[in-house]
Amino acid sequence: MDFRHQISSPDNLAALACDALVLVVVGEAVDASLDPALANALSDAIAQGDLALKAGKSLYLHRPAGVRAARVVFAAAGASTVKAFKAALMHGLNQVKGSGAKHVAVGLAGAGALSDAHAEAVVTAARECTYLYRHTKPSAPAASKIDKVTVLCAKADVKPVQQGLARGHAIAAGVNLAREWANRPGNHCTPTHLADVAKKLGKEYALKVEVLDRKACEKLGMGSFLSVAQASDEPLRFIVARYDGAPKSQAPVVLVGKGITFDTGGISLKPGAEMDEMKYDMGGAASVLGTLRAVAELKPKLNLVCIIPSCENMPGGNAVKPGDVVTSMSGQTIEILNTDAEGRLILCDALTYAERFKPAVVVDVATLTGACVIALGHHNSGLFTADDKIAEQMQAASAKGLDPCWRMPLDEEYDAGLKSNFADMANIGGRPGGAITAAMFLKRFTGKYPWAHLDIAGTAWKSGAAKGGTGRPVPLLTHFVLAQAA
Ligand code: BES
Ligand code: MN
Ligand code: ZN
Repeated sequence: MDFRHQISSPDNLAALACDALVLVVVGEAVDASLDPALANALSDAIAQGDLALKAGKSLYLHRPAGVRAARVVFAAAGASTVKAFKAALMHGLNQVKGSGAKHVAVGLAGAGALSDAHAEAVVTAARECTYLYRHTKPSAPAASKIDKVTVLCAKADVKPVQQGLARGHAIAAGVNLAREWANRPGNHCTPTHLADVAKKLGKEYALKVEVLDRKACEKLGMGSFLSVAQASDEPLRFIVARYDGAPKSQAPVVLVGKGITFDTGGISLKPGAEMDEMKYDMGGAASVLGTLRAVAELKPKLNLVCIIPSCENMPGGNAVKPGDVVTSMSGQTIEILNTDAEGRLILCDALTYAERFKPAVVVDVATLTGACVIALGHHNSGLFTADDKIAEQMQAASAKGLDPCWRMPLDEEYDAGLKSNFADMANIGGRPGGAITAAMFLKRFTGKYPWAHLDIAGTAWKSGAAKGGTGRPVPLLTHFVLAQAA
């Protein structure tokens, strides 16, 4: 799909050559500057009760009189925010995506200028609503014929719109990468596959990619990570990929992604219902790879290191058992009271490994706890950090990327639950505040650098009829990383 800007003014949209014109209408009245043919159609639809200018409402018109485009969609935005603009645009695009339209033009009616953020939203919205999973279902009919999207803007707004389009393109490609790999089943998305994705990105963008195998991890003393992987016949992979956009002397941003390609729970076996969804337990890893792709494409002046511990969590005759004590790379011992709390066990060694990069900041991303889904549902990712400045930066990035997160507490009182009589800590802390105790566990391995943790168990995946990966939190992470260069 090709994205471009096109200079145009609201008063001559009827003459515009395209297959479908999607106009996002902001405000509660028809804008006076709108082209008369379109303004008449819009006013009439409102007068006839066919369209209300309220968020969520849209109207499809086929060959309206006096308009060159064969299809026009008015999509009401309600508010004048970028969030409302994107939501309205999604409604509009969903109306034309099944039509014969190949070239779609997108414009704004009645809210002033299009910013870079609007342009970014056009790209992410269009890619989001036309994505189709086909890897193991090649017979699926194409989602849409749309191959070209033009953003209509004034001459004065060309620069920011172009910048927004470029950023949107990079983010959307990262989102799609994350979505695609979360969707692929466990037998088509193994640790080896994830390592291959990293290597392919490495070739495409001249990144340094290193993949450690079991032996190498043993040498490093990653007893915690190894214990999770030990009952799986699928070889583990510890992936390290680096984007160098600044001098070596500059401390890097480090992203760590949970890469459990299937989580059965291990000996603490999960119930059968919906266990299939645990193929997306590598959603953190996928979003880190997606972010790496976006960053590598945009080439900001900073250094980025991505670390992905990846394996399956399986039961078996040689599986780690409840009560087993393992020694993490940090030297701290862990009593594994529940083998289903495996995410923190692979992340803790990756967080220790991260120390060698002397990071400016480390962010880990993980489908870590069901408790986070209970706490925040599917709208906000859980954000955990003791550092107010990082929290602010994450929240700003989240707002820019339209990829919400909510800050959760990390009071030391929550740490008490991790006490073990047989090791430095237990790997679970009881059901109350389960997302927080999981974060407290990770915190014990992050003393050497500023750190934040994102629990994306509720946001990386949609259940129900439209079940599948979302590609989140690639928009949040990309904006966060980009802001570190500024
Ligand atoms: N991968 C799961 C968390 C999860 C649950 C992700 C639901 C997505 C949807 C994680 O490994 C896990 O099993 N966590 C346990 C922790 C518990 C044993 C302390 C959980 O949340 O039940
Ligand atoms: Mn688990
Ligand atoms: Zn898991």
